[in-house]
Amino acid sequence: MLQGKDVLGMEHMSVEEIELILETARYFKEYLEDKTKSIPSLKGKSFVNLFYEPSTRTRTSFEMAAKYLDAEVINFNQKISSAAKGETLKDTAVTIQMMKPDGVIIRHSTPGSAKFLADHLHTPVINAGDGTHEHPTQALLDLFTIKEKKGAIAGLNVLIAGDILHSRVARSNIWGLKKMGAKVSVVGPLTLIPDHIQHLGIDVYTDPEEAVSQADVINVLRVQLERQQKGLFPSLGEYNKFFGIKAETLKKAKKDVLIMHPGPMNRGVEIDSIVADSTRSAINEQVTNGVAVRMALLYLITGGESSSENLN
Ligand code: CP
Repeated sequence: MLQGKDVLGMEHMSVEEIELILETARYFKEYLEDKTKSIPSLKGKSFVNLFYEPSTRTRTSFEMAAKYLDAEVINFNQKISSAAKGETLKDTAVTIQMMKPDGVIIRHSTPGSAKFLADHLHTPVINAGDGTHEHPTQALLDLFTIKEKKGAIAGLNVLIAGDILHSRVARSNIWGLKKMGAKVSVVGPLTLIPDHIQHLGIDVYTDPEEAVSQADVINVLRVQLERQQKGLFPSLGEYNKFFGIKAETLKKAKKDVLIMHPGPMNRGVEIDSIVADSTRSAINEQVTNGVAVRMALLYLITGGESSSENLN
């Protein structure tokens, strides 16, 4: 179903494809918990991490995922590449394609850059975050985490809190969660919520204490200061006071509410440490799940089939 395909976003991913990735990732998660379990080998396959923006989790977990599967991974370093001499993204990508990798994983600050590459390359392209547009592998690992922790996704109330305007994670999560049958809400200052977002079929709140009361899951997003062109709120202190997810914000929340954050966190801004490090938090497990989901994607785009016959 996914062999040779690009993974560009959740907007155009089918429910069947999402379910296949989550089911395959469940198998690889078992391997991460018990490395004596045998897994299929992608020996002889190679992937290029083409990262034009900083990353810890996504770049490293794609690298770990490839290595666990015995594949080669090459990390492109923009600063010491010919991009620093003015080579275009397309020329760089075509040059890399001519070295015959089995997949290119791209992170870039320009929305649409992953689709642009996919239109010009024969090699499958995985979007590891394109500006404010989409971050599908983050949404997939978030869906995996919610399913693992809550048993199902359909019917859950998922609240996305924070800087929705600049967040590719928010967009990909909204598409993915809606497809999987969750009810989605957002909360944040109106200056950080895109106009007309209700048209995606979600509720909008500006009061975090009101918003959290119905939530089964709260996915807290980073305030993305690097993408802001103008001051959209007075100060980080005020942001924390009025919109940060703190112990007192959660007084009206369900006892078993699941706290998530894609990372990196601004502790004391969008989330307080007492919440991030609490027993309700799945933030560290999200990182492990990111490796499992990315193993599943590398396996599936290179022709693996998820079935008990192939994976046991
Ligand atoms: N969540 C996420 O994309 O983190 P990185 O920027 O560290 O990859």
